[in-house]
Amino acid sequence: MLKKDIDYVSYSFIDIFQKDDNEIVETFHEHTKLSPNSTREIGRRVGEIKSDPNILAMMQRAWKNYPAALSIPLDKQASLGDMTLADALKRRASLSTYATSFRPDTLRLEALSALLLHSYGATRPQPWKGRFEDGGFGRPAASSGGLYPMEIYPIVLNVEGLERGVYHYNVPQHALQRLRTGDMLDELFECTTYHDLLKNASVLFVLTGVWKRTLSKYRQRGYRFLMHDAGTLLQNLYLNATALDLGACALGGLFDDRMAKVLDVNPLDEPVLLGFLVGGRPAPAGQLRSLPATI
Ligand SMILES: Cc1cc2nc3c(=O)[nH]c(=O)nc-3n(C[C@H](O)[C@H](O)[C@H](O)COP(=O)(O)O)c2cc1C
Repeated sequence: MLKKDIDYVSYSFIDIFQKDDNEIVETFHEHTKLSPNSTREIGRRVGEIKSDPNILAMMQRAWKNYPAALSIPLDKQASLGDMTLADALKRRASLSTYATSFRPDTLRLEALSALLLHSYGATRPQPWKGRFEDGGFGRPAASSGGLYPMEIYPIVLNVEGLERGVYHYNVPQHALQRLRTGDMLDELFECTTYHDLLKNASVLFVLTGVWKRTLSKYRQRGYRFLMHDAGTLLQNLYLNATALDLGACALGGLFDDRMAKVLDVNPLDEPVLLGFLVGGRPAPAGQLRSLPATI
């Protein structure tokens, strides 16, 4: 292919910002490329895991549990309604591209239930993976190695029948575990600059990643996989929120460590990766706003 046959318009960013120092990213990427050597290293690790039934069972139980927390069972039959996938894909948009804030609205508990179940819940029993309660089930999101490193913490701001506060989603039970209650808004304002988006939202889902679930198998390359896993979950959340006619917006603009404090998780073992807001969908203003300020 001749150089003149390639459209270089977006690639020319490289020339404009050529003084940027991307060394950390480039070095990390270089060192986490798959090669015959690193494949052998991962292969050895897989062999170790497979030869120890305890490790294998542990890896299958890919979810956190808070046994002392109050558990609120969710509806295992919660429906997404009847929007087709094609329509959901066409309509999916981030609220920040057409409005400045959510329409204040109380989220139905059934909608919250459907959102969680069809984004990261247990979908179908897979008996060949062992008993259901030990992880013998599939999920709606693809996951590298089936290791499901993501945890979801719904922070409830305005949901029917739920006290405001921080919750954790328990996957096999399809239940919310209440970690603490309180009016969260002031604390959340300290964790982001997106106050307009946050102030009328119904729920902020905070997505964390449990490093060891994925890194134990894939070593440093697992970091890349974990981010892909965050992506498959994020797209499910977006499409399901669209099917439920909710406004939705990813929230990468979070102060990671302040958010980890709100959740009371150790940011070294289980870092905060992303936020996702849902709430009442305002009528689109008919024109796109300018680029979001920080992301
Ligand atoms: C990983 C990720 C992080 C994002 N973080 C933010 C954010 O912090 N604030 C915001 O307004 N939009 C955020 N967005 C939404 C993007 O700005 C939006 O997806 C993009 O402008 C394309 O618009 P659309 O989603 O409406 O198609 C994020 C999207 C992704 C995938």
